[in-house]
Parts: sequence; C-alpha cells; structure tokens
Amino acid sequence: MHLMLIVGARPNFMKIAPILRALRSYPQIQTTLVHTGQHYDKNLSDVFFQELGISEPDISLGVGSGSHGRQTADILAAIEQLLVDLDSQGKRVSRLVVVGDVNSTMAASLAAAKLSIPVAHVEAGLRSFDRSMPEEVNRIVTDAIADMLLVSEPAGVDNLRREGHAASEIHLVGNVMIDTLRQHVEAAKKRPTLRDLGLVAGEYAVVTLHRPSNVDQRESLSALVDLLAAASERLPIVFPIHPRTLSRLDQFGLTARMKAARRIHVLPPLAYGDFLCLTSQTKVIVTDSGGLQEESTALGVPCLTMRANTERPITVDVGTSTLVGDDFGKLWECLQMVIEGRYKSGRCPELWDGKASTRIAAILAKEAT
Ligand code: UD1
Repeated sequence: MHLMLIVGARPNFMKIAPILRALRSYPQIQTTLVHTGQHYDKNLSDVFFQELGISEPDISLGVGSGSHGRQTADILAAIEQLLVDLDSQGKRVSRLVVVGDVNSTMAASLAAAKLSIPVAHVEAGLRSFDRSMPEEVNRIVTDAIADMLLVSEPAGVDNLRREGHAASEIHLVGNVMIDTLRQHVEAAKKRPTLRDLGLVAGEYAVVTLHRPSNVDQRESLSALVDLLAAASERLPIVFPIHPRTLSRLDQFGLTARMKAARRIHVLPPLAYGDFLCLTSQTKVIVTDSGGLQEESTALGVPCLTMRANTERPITVDVGTSTLVGDDFGKLWECLQMVIEGRYKSGRCPELWDGKASTRIAAILAKEAT
C-alpha cells in the first residue's frame, strides 16, 4: 500500500507528524510526504519539521502564495502531475491522506479524486456554516470527495451523516493535533521562553489573530490594536504576529501604535515548543485560530475566540472557549471574569487522549490487508 500524505500550511505539520509516526508500525505501508509550499517562511514551515521530528518531505512543490484561485490551481496541477508520474513509474498511490482545511487540503484532494485515487480526510465533518470563510469551502469540497472521513468531535459525525455520507465511511477517531500537544507539553513547559520574555506563569495573555475577517479591514484592526493596548494595562500580552497580520498593520499604518504599547510583546511567529510553553502556562488566550481553540480546551486554559462562529463547537460546549466575535464589550467582560477567577473551567473532550493517530493508522492499515 502506498499512501501520499499532504502538508502545506503551518497547522498541517502538527497533524501529520503523529500520523507518520503511527504508520511506522505498519511496514506494509509505504509513505510519500509531499509539501505543497503554501507556507514557505522558515518560521511557518521548516522549524516544525525539525521540532516535531517529521522527516524531510519526499517531494516539495514550492507553490508559494497567491490568490485563492491561483494557489489552488497551482497545487491541483502540481499534485496531478506528481500522481501521474508516480503511476507511470509503477509507484501508483493507493490513497491520499489530507489533514485540516487549508487550500492545499482541498486542491490535493481534487487532484487525487479526478484520478480515481481515494482520499482520507483527517479532521473531516467540521462546519462553521459560514461560507465566507475560505476554509469552510475547503472543508465541504474535501469531504464531498473523500471516502474515508476521520473525525475529531461528534458534531462532525452529525454533519457528515446529514450531508449523506454512509456510516461506514465515518470514523470518530479524536484529535491528532492533541496527540502532538500531549507528546510535547511537558518538555515545552521547561523551556526558557517565559523567563526570556520576563513573564510569570499565569500572569500574562497570549494573543494570535490572522483571519481576514479580523485583520483585513483598517477600521476593525485599528480598534483591535486600541483594545489590546488597553487590555495590556491589566495583563501583559504576548502577540506572535502572523505575516498576514503584520503586512496589514504596516499597510494601515498601525505598527507603531501597536509597538508603542509597552506591555505588548510583539514577536514573530514562534516555533512549536516556545509557543506551547506560552500557551500551556498563560492565564488566557485571545485568538481567531481554529487549532488554538482546541489546544486551549485540551490544556484547560480560557480561550476568548474572536469569531462569530466556530466549526469546533465542542470547544465551546464542553471546553474552555467562548465565542466573542467582534463584540469588544463581551471580550472585555470575559477578560474580567478570567482575571477575577469567575470564568468557566471546561473539560477535555473524549478521544482527545493522545491516541487519535494510532486509531487512524489502524484504519488505514486495515485497508492494506
Ligand atoms: C492559511 C490558511 C488558514 C490557516 C493559516 C495558518 C487557507 C485558505 N488559509 O492562511 O486556514 O489558519 O494558513 O497560518 O489555506 N505568507 C508569508 N510566508 C509564508 C506564507 C504566507 O509571508 O510562508 C504571507 C503571504 O503574503 C501570503 C499571506 O501570508 O499572501 C497569507 O498566506 P496564505 O497561505 O494565503 O494564508 P494564511 O493567511 O496563512
């Protein structure tokens, strides 16, 4: 059996690492790891390979940034060529494995489906029901094409059943990103990251923002900068800035205002261990990231999610996340609750136990017998 596994953007690396490791227990399975190059900066890509112990990609496509159409088209064409070439060399790919909801996930799935190569989707079934999010379109298309749907939370199973998928295609396996978190969290806590930043455990906030809905409009980004500056008077803030957000701050002339806030540590995107060191010991996380909503729930850390909706409802219903959208009043109120110890505590969902990748590898291997 020959599996092709696809990575492209930062959140993919933490998801693919444990799957690759779990697949090593099955010598009958050969793997080819392909990096599309959707993310290419060292601190959005290479650093994760080193830290998470992922072998170098067997193939790097170097597609790079572009509009959604351009980027998707380039990945689609490059993966198709690769699959055709491997076939002509007698190394036909028997199944494609994709993770998450980025453009690389959808484009690679489309290429495989057109060549009648079955697709396994890890993190299938998640729905925000908001098609203005590019990731929602990627999720819907990928799931429509995939025939092995590996799901992280029960709502995903309900969504897939409602969309007409057969029960035999759907596997509730848990959360692979939490496998990676559990593997690394204790070592991460011992890193000198807090000390280097002059921070004390439990006495700072971590902020990440990169969604177009939060950072692409001048007015809302400007108001956000003011809010963070005010919040930093209560609690120092660590803000590792995504390249998209950095370029918008520059474009809207807001960088100086952000840097003027004395208690906001503006940092470049961080490596996995340093970031986990910060998130595992923070008082609160403010974010619009999908992955961080889940990681904060697994860590039991309050998470104020700056989105109107979430495709990961378990993080709100069971976990530590609250959707605050763009309601600054609600954000401020929740921050107060956290600071005063009145915020909900939440619990870790079932199957977020560090063994999701083992379950996935077993399902993939069953096909090989
Ligand atoms: C992508 C994913 C998003 C994910 C995020 C995590 C899609 C549709 N979006 O968003 O779901 O949450 O990654 O980071 O797939 N850039 C760099 N260096 C890089 C890559 C990008 O500077 O290595 C800059 C480029 O200017 C690029 C911009 O960031 O145009 C946005 O990158 P892109 O991959 O298009 O989307 P993200 O916002 O990173």
